[in-house]
Amino acid sequence: MADFVGALDQGTTSTRFMIFDHSGNEIAKRQLEHEQIMPQAGWVEHSPLEIIDRTRTVIGGALANANLQASDLDSIGITNQRETAVVWNKKTGRPYYNAIVWQDTRTDKIASALEREGKGDVIRQKAGIPPATYFSAGKVQWMLENVDGLREAAEAGDAIFGNTDSWVLWNLTGGTDGGVHVTDVTNASRTMLMNLETLDWDDELLSFFGIPRSMLPTIRPSSDPDFYGTTQRSGPVGGEVPLCGDLGDQQAATVGQVCFAPGAAKNTYGTGNFLLMNTGEEIVRSKSGLLTTPAYKFGDAPAVFALEGSIAVTGSAVQWLRDQLGIISGAAETEQLARQVEDTGGMYFVPAFSGLFAPYWRSDARGAIVGMSRFNTNAHLARATLESICYQSKDVADAMAKDSGVTLDVLKVDGGVTANSLCMQLQADILGVPVSRPVVAETTALGAAYAAGLATGFWSNTDELRANWNEATRWDPEWSDEQRASGYAGWQKAVQRTLDWVD
Ligand code: G3P
Repeated sequence: MADFVGALDQGTTSTRFMIFDHSGNEIAKRQLEHEQIMPQAGWVEHSPLEIIDRTRTVIGGALANANLQASDLDSIGITNQRETAVVWNKKTGRPYYNAIVWQDTRTDKIASALEREGKGDVIRQKAGIPPATYFSAGKVQWMLENVDGLREAAEAGDAIFGNTDSWVLWNLTGGTDGGVHVTDVTNASRTMLMNLETLDWDDELLSFFGIPRSMLPTIRPSSDPDFYGTTQRSGPVGGEVPLCGDLGDQQAATVGQVCFAPGAAKNTYGTGNFLLMNTGEEIVRSKSGLLTTPAYKFGDAPAVFALEGSIAVTGSAVQWLRDQLGIISGAAETEQLARQVEDTGGMYFVPAFSGLFAPYWRSDARGAIVGMSRFNTNAHLARATLESICYQSKDVADAMAKDSGVTLDVLKVDGGVTANSLCMQLQADILGVPVSRPVVAETTALGAAYAAGLATGFWSNTDELRANWNEATRWDPEWSDEQRASGYAGWQKAVQRTLDWVD
């Protein structure tokens, strides 16, 4: 029996392949970034061909680093940046257009027209999410309306759509030579096209966007004992390994953090932040600006759902300090810089670069730095950036408590920004609850590996996975209640400025 499970994490800024053992320990990892293409303000694209190229390189690289081969892998799981839309020709394998990324706001008119025409409530009710630029369907509609020949190709059944999980799975299982066109319930739920009750594409929702059903992948369980397909001998794995786990990255992190009981929650700090709380088999409709989304579906068992607070810009605000302002040369420097000062000196930074997602859902909001005086320095801005990550998480944690009636007694965290100890301390201070990071911080890839290994029996049940979870670090709140309340009141005023900006 093979000793390891592989996981491919196709993320917003990079693609990584990781290999785990039965205890969930990381055995190997290879990661490569890809280009962020920004042709106009508000537009964000990726090259699907570059993503596949990176996918092949990281798979081959991780196996070589650990001196492993296909026969050492029991199975492979896929996880991915969600919502990012790829449309390609199934006969040639060529994309019709760059992938339109989840952060892209070019479809704001499509989203506001849906609301104006009274379709917003139907989408909210059926798909569990509001009409917004964030989700895939508007991006596919935009391509159908703007790419020459695409509508005809789609109607002829040649042009097919997928999030990057489908694109990667199609390529790894053979591409033009019999590649499978599939996705899982968690990814499908991020399109605005899937009905949460039936877990299938919904004809009324498809009609809102003019998307032919033939473009869409088959929706499968997130952990599938029937396997989506196998890798090819001629491909980067070098042998036939079952592909049988597929989860959107935030749902994968929920599984990797073993949030299997209703009320269990995790917050992932990546490009954006995503707080998900397991609500069990119940579909809980949010009244507070959260999304209702499947957390996972393991084989024939009923789907398990979650409430999600999605925040568009957190880690990418740190990248902005580096790339656009040049006040740091790497993300790690934010901590040193921010530690030079005791507080933000009255400054708040609301990085509403892609509008504001949960709980506001205002695509017209734009970023603001407020409360400045001549006294303020780069160090205050660095600290305000870290605080903005934590305040945005407080906004969604409060919404979560309102919707679910569950108040978190501890927040499980993961993702790149959790390496920033000051930021995690600020998170505990701002929330007023302890923050806990596990030993294996790569919970997204781990969750995809778990989904694959549960399908083959490599792991026999979720209890086995729970036993793999161990706390590495805990941050306890240090601020007084007054400090917390006045800090948050200032944040709420600052957010209001970003909402007032565009009328
Ligand atoms: O919904 C977007 C999310 O899936 C992207 O996550 O980690 O690639 O920024 P990440």
